[in-house]
Amino acid sequence: MDAVKWSADLSVGVDAIDNQHKQLFAVIGELQAAIAKGRGQKQMHLILEKLIAYTETHFAAEEAYMREIGFPEVDNHAIEHVQLVLKVRRFQDRLRRERITMPVMQFLNYWLKNHIMASDLEYGRFAANRPDPAAAQDEPLTSPAGSSL
Ligand SMILES: [Fe+2]
Repeated sequence: MDAVKWSADLSVGVDAIDNQHKQLFAVIGELQAAIAKGRGQKQMHLILEKLIAYTETHFAAEEAYMREIGFPEVDNHAIEHVQLVLKVRRFQDRLRRERITMPVMQFLNYWLKNHIMASDLEYGRFAANRPDPAAAQDEPLTSPAGSSL
C-alpha cells in the first residue's frame, strides 16, 4: 500500500496548517513503514504516541484558527477531532494485545485525507470567501438599516 501523501488539492490556503497536515501524513507514513518492516510493539506504541501528540497540537491550532475566522461549524469540527484522538488511543490499547495491521493504517490514511477534504477544506473556503477584515475596518461606520444609534 502506498503511503498517502499531501497534495496541493488538500491545501486549506493557510501555509502553517498545510505544513502541519504534511507532517501528519509523514507520521502516518512512518507508522506504515514500521508495520511493513515488522517493527516491535514498543516502537509502534511510540509512533502512535507521537501521532497523538502531533494531532492534539495540530487540532488545537486548527480550532483556534477556525474560531479566529468565525467559522460557524467549529464545534462539530472539533468533535471529529476528539473522535479521532479517541480512536488512535483505542488502537494504542489494542496494540498491547495484538499487532497493528494494515487496516489500522488504511483507516488513518482514509481518515486524514477525508477529514481534510470534507471538513478542513470547508473552513478554507469559508476563510477565502469572508470579507477582508482589514478592508472592513476602512469602511465608514454606519448604523444597521432601520436602527438608530
Ligand atoms: Fe480538522
